[in-house]
Amino acid sequence: MDNASGEGLDRIEACVFDAYGTLFDVNSAVGACAAKVGPKYAELSGEWRRRQLEYTWLLSLMGEHRDFEQVTADALAVSLAQFGLDDALAGSLMAAYRRLAPFPEVASVLAVLGRAGLTRAILTNGSPAMIDAAVVNAGFASSLEHCLSVESVGIFKPDPRVYQLAVDTLGVARERIAFMSSNAWDAAGAANFGFQVVWVNRYAQPREALPGSPSAIIAELGELPALVGIC
Ligand code: LAC
Repeated sequence: MDNASGEGLDRIEACVFDAYGTLFDVNSAVGACAAKVGPKYAELSGEWRRRQLEYTWLLSLMGEHRDFEQVTADALAVSLAQFGLDDALAGSLMAAYRRLAPFPEVASVLAVLGRAGLTRAILTNGSPAMIDAAVVNAGFASSLEHCLSVESVGIFKPDPRVYQLAVDTLGVARERIAFMSSNAWDAAGAANFGFQVVWVNRYAQPREALPGSPSAIIAELGELPALVGIC
């Protein structure tokens, strides 16, 4: 474990998770349709994700908002065109996005945190219908006390109003919330807001030069229970 602070987290009361990339493998959508997509499937997946996130930031800067399912569909349409792929693939790829594979350790980690009495929540850009579908498909519905969508505040991460939504809904002070994200920019935004952040650096990426430092850095969520003091 590469713990940024050298210690565990301090008196955590709730564990709040980013969804896409942290609990769910976003590449599993294109992976499930790889035979139909053809040899460019991995590049398509990367471009789709990159463009999806860029659109969230650009819409916010424009003072505009579309829900994340629309943003995801728009980003897919442009990415399919970029690779000269048939736009008829969009239907099965969007359906696969509602059935994303969870990372293998997630179910057991949620169970351990729940047995320890910690509140478990998702805080995601995802619109309610798409994130609820992924949660139910993965069998996580009974392992999460809250599933919070940015649609409640009408703006995407890393706007501080998104992170405040977790504070207000959970009734837990920001400094008592552990926030887990594999997205370095989300980890930075959440740390800058005042959460104790665990950056789940699944892909061994470099730190982003942004405000907000994670309290800890782990490679996968199996390392989380020890950090919050559950052995
Ligand atoms: C989310 C994106 C950032 O789930 O992955 O909010």
